[in-house]
Amino acid sequence: MKVFISGASGLVGSNCLKHFKEQGLETIGSYYSFETDDTVFYDTLMPDHPFNFDVATFAPDVIVHCGALTHVDYCETHEQESYEKTVQSTINLIKVAKECGAKMVYISTDYVFDGKNGPYKEDASVNPISVYARHKLEAEQMVLREIPHSLVLRVTNVYGNELRGKNFVARIIDQCKNHQKLTLKLPYDQYASPANAWDIARAMYLLLRDHKEGIYHIGGTDFLNRVELALRVLSYFPDAEYELIPISTEDMKQPAARPLIGGFVKAKFSSEYPEFLFGNIDSYMKEQTPAPSR
Ligand SMILES: NC(=O)c1ccc[n+]([C@@H]2O[C@H](COP(=O)([O-])OP(=O)(O)OC[C@H]3O[C@@H](n4cnc5c(N)ncnc54)[C@H](OP(=O)(O)O)[C@@H]3O)[C@@H](O)[C@H]2O)c1
Repeated sequence: MKVFISGASGLVGSNCLKHFKEQGLETIGSYYSFETDDTVFYDTLMPDHPFNFDVATFAPDVIVHCGALTHVDYCETHEQESYEKTVQSTINLIKVAKECGAKMVYISTDYVFDGKNGPYKEDASVNPISVYARHKLEAEQMVLREIPHSLVLRVTNVYGNELRGKNFVARIIDQCKNHQKLTLKLPYDQYASPANAWDIARAMYLLLRDHKEGIYHIGGTDFLNRVELALRVLSYFPDAEYELIPISTEDMKQPAARPLIGGFVKAKFSSEYPEFLFGNIDSYMKEQTPAPSR
């Protein structure tokens, strides 16, 4: 199986690239602005860019689309840019997938729900409450409609290893390791099921291997709010200096509305792969902060 991953310099894509290669899949991953050793250039917004990797000649069986404008508040005030980076990029990749006869994998989010009664199963009714969320839903529905046998993996609060260490958990770890004082103002009423990008990659590999299709919810074994998530990470750094201010979402006054009780019930995936063990923040932190040798 040949796989092209658009956005393999990012968190989810880089973990997929690494895992798929380790599993022996012929996999090419792309970067856009952050070049890495093992990626090629590809701009999903300019399919005819002269420097684009030649996807058609590579002729992948699968295209994994990991690109999007993920800054939810920025999307709220930059609707056109959000549309282009999330919806238009998907329209463009669908065209490429059709030319290659490739299946697509789209990475979506629990933000397609309104957060009134999560955690959610795949068949729960969607009701996006922000610009980012509306665009993610539009893109996932388009992929499912246009590309036969496509997959949508909905994920949330993704953490894990990535070169830039820009995810929420990685930034806390980085500041703690560098002995920087942290000031965190975080909502105590936004719940989700954080997922390690490595688990997403492992789950995606199995779903592709077994020719699965449709929507799958993927999440770790935690169900936490943002304050609990930060405290869980900080607990691995007993000397960390920090000020944590728990605040309600209402008082945060973020530009984009957030689903409060989000996250996933991943019973569908677990019923098909009962032996698949998802990690959580504790298992990840134990890898990041190994016990000192005696
Ligand atoms: N992270 C989360 O918590 C989370 C939660 C729910 C859903 N998701 C979804 O998961 C997917 C992956 O997210 P992520 O966290 O891995 O994001 P990320 O780390 O920001 O990675 C995004 C990737 O897209 C690439 N990209 C950006 N603009 C591009 C363009 N015009 N053409 C081609 N590639 C472009 C980036 O390349 P450069 O960096 O090289 O510019 C990067 O490799 C996204 O669709 C996101 O909506 C993420």
